[in-house]
Amino acid sequence: MKIGIIGSGNMGRAVGVRLAQLGHPVTFGARRLEQAQSAASVAGHGATAGDNEAAARFGEVLVWTIRETDPAAVFADPSVLDGKTVLDLNNRNYAEEVKTGAWLTEAIAERLQKTAPTARVVKALNTIAMETFDTSADALRAAGAQSFIAGDDAEAKTKVAALLADLGFTAVDLGTGPAALRAAEALGDVIRLLMIDGGHGGRAHLTFGTLPVPDLSTIGERADSNYR
Ligand SMILES: NC(=O)c1ccc[n+]([C@@H]2O[C@H](COP(=O)([O-])OP(=O)(O)OC[C@H]3O[C@@H](n4cnc5c(N)ncnc54)[C@H](OP(=O)(O)O)[C@@H]3O)[C@@H](O)[C@H]2O)c1
Repeated sequence: MKIGIIGSGNMGRAVGVRLAQLGHPVTFGARRLEQAQSAASVAGHGATAGDNEAAARFGEVLVWTIRETDPAAVFADPSVLDGKTVLDLNNRNYAEEVKTGAWLTEAIAERLQKTAPTARVVKALNTIAMETFDTSADALRAAGAQSFIAGDDAEAKTKVAALLADLGFTAVDLGTGPAALRAAEALGDVIRLLMIDGGHGGRAHLTFGTLPVPDLSTIGERADSNYR
């Protein structure tokens, strides 16, 4: 799948390098060309570099790594996003905004979708630390790594889920509508609570799942309790 990286900082470089290594054609975009060129040279595998608009034109899926959500502030021609699948992996500023739950009233991806109504915005990868992309896809699969996804466009979600599978993540679909996008962004605060305040660093990872049905022959049924 042709990938355009919008912003080639920490996450743009980490995700783009891994996707290039997996055989996806990648163009790194940045407002400073040398940043995109540096990421492309680390990636190899035919990856190229340009400005963000060049990356947006190239990609079928665009990895949106900048918090700026107004395409008019990023592209001379915002119609470059028409019909594109835009994977938004952004979180708010943790130090400044986590206590306010800024996503309660509008998620970053919601705003991005409003400002780019012809794009197909999918939230994903915002709970994945950049260090994770130095772990092989096979090792991530074996560890049961998951990424949450949210968004309204089923086709775009299918594309993003396929990319996530290549990277080693099972996609956990939080659903459609604002609540799903806000929930995904809230989980971005949870992972950083674990990483930063909890001291787990880049090895922290969120997965949700179910365990086998318990047999309860040892501990018995749950008794009434005031503790929750
Ligand atoms: N790092 C992680 O482990 C991680 C994990 C999950 C999610 N995230 C989220 O991913 C996003 C990116 O984080 P990061 O660590 O990659 O940050 P970063 O290294 O600072 O990269 C941000 C990129 O956005 C560019 N940028 C910022 N404002 C821009 C604008 N107005 N127009 C064009 N380009 C602009 C920056 O360009 P300049 O360098 O020219 O300023 C830089 O290339 C954040 O929202 C973060 O919360 C990060």
